Amino acid sequence: MTDQAATRHLSSQRGTDDPARRRPDATGTGYAHAKAILLGEHAVVYGTPALAVPVHGLGVEARVRPAAEGVHVDSELFAGDAATAPGLLRPVVTALSAALDLVGLASGAQVRILSSLPHERGLGSSAAVAAAVTRAVADLASVELGPDALYKVVQEAERHSHGNPSGLDARAVVADTPIRFQRGRVAPLEVGAATTFVLADSGGAGSTALAVAGVRARLDADRPGVERVFARIAELVEDGAVRLARGDVAALGEAMTEDHRLLAGLGVSNETLDRLVAAALAAGSAGAKLTGGGQGGCVIALAGSEEHADELATALRGAGAARSWTTTVPAA
Ligand code: MEV
Repeated sequence: MTDQAATRHLSSQRGTDDPARRRPDATGTGYAHAKAILLGEHAVVYGTPALAVPVHGLGVEARVRPAAEGVHVDSELFAGDAATAPGLLRPVVTALSAALDLVGLASGAQVRILSSLPHERGLGSSAAVAAAVTRAVADLASVELGPDALYKVVQEAERHSHGNPSGLDARAVVADTPIRFQRGRVAPLEVGAATTFVLADSGGAGSTALAVAGVRARLDADRPGVERVFARIAELVEDGAVRLARGDVAALGEAMTEDHRLLAGLGVSNETLDRLVAAALAAGSAGAKLTGGGQGGCVIALAGSEEHADELATALRGAGAARSWTTTVPAA
């Protein structure tokens, strides 16, 4: 699909003279939520499939207003001229200017970012900020962005945050349902029974860029060995999708725990993440693993019920988790 086809002006009459576009008090808003990867991170960068679930309780709202000139950002991390924003804000600035170009707004903008989504925790913060900003710009311009146009802008922003993104995060932070992702394409997943997960923050930041680069170095050093690991992860993903569709929590959990061990073998776990996974299993979780880039960030643990999720959260905090969130994926 072309960008033109994917991007539809709500009113074909609207041009750059549209008063709604020039009103200084006009505000566009956009939202995107967190995601958690159930199975398949890292291998997905090399074309294998992965499964992710939305985390609706954590998200980012962006508000964009037109400005006479320049781009001004106001966020928890930084407030000021976008040209002087720190590296962490590069994806936002990239998304903002790509989105302004895409919808044909040439002038400046003021963007305010309100986020409940912690960054560098493997929950998709950089993709969610980029998606929220892009949606806010589209809203300001009364342009409806198709999913592929939105994906393209978020991917451009993601390249600034970690070089070679698979596209999984860009798709997952705007997907309302659990998804299977492979090479840019997404399909909703069948969920046989409501499934509850606890996400626990190890308290340490994880750099996806460094973790992805570390796996790349291992692949370069031992291609056959690492490709065997990727092939096994791909099997776990396919089995996991079937187990989720059946509502077989015990079997899904086994796949998650094995995936954690494989990821640890690729060097993307650390002592704290391993300790949290062990604590979740000791507290009766059917399976647990790191989620996202790793080397910090979060673990995701399967709970048997919402009550069990409370027990798991307590156990995880007892083992050193800085905080935790519970999310339930409904049957669908
Ligand atoms: C990061 O959330 C997931 C990774 O697989 C990187 C990517 O898919 O681009 C580690």
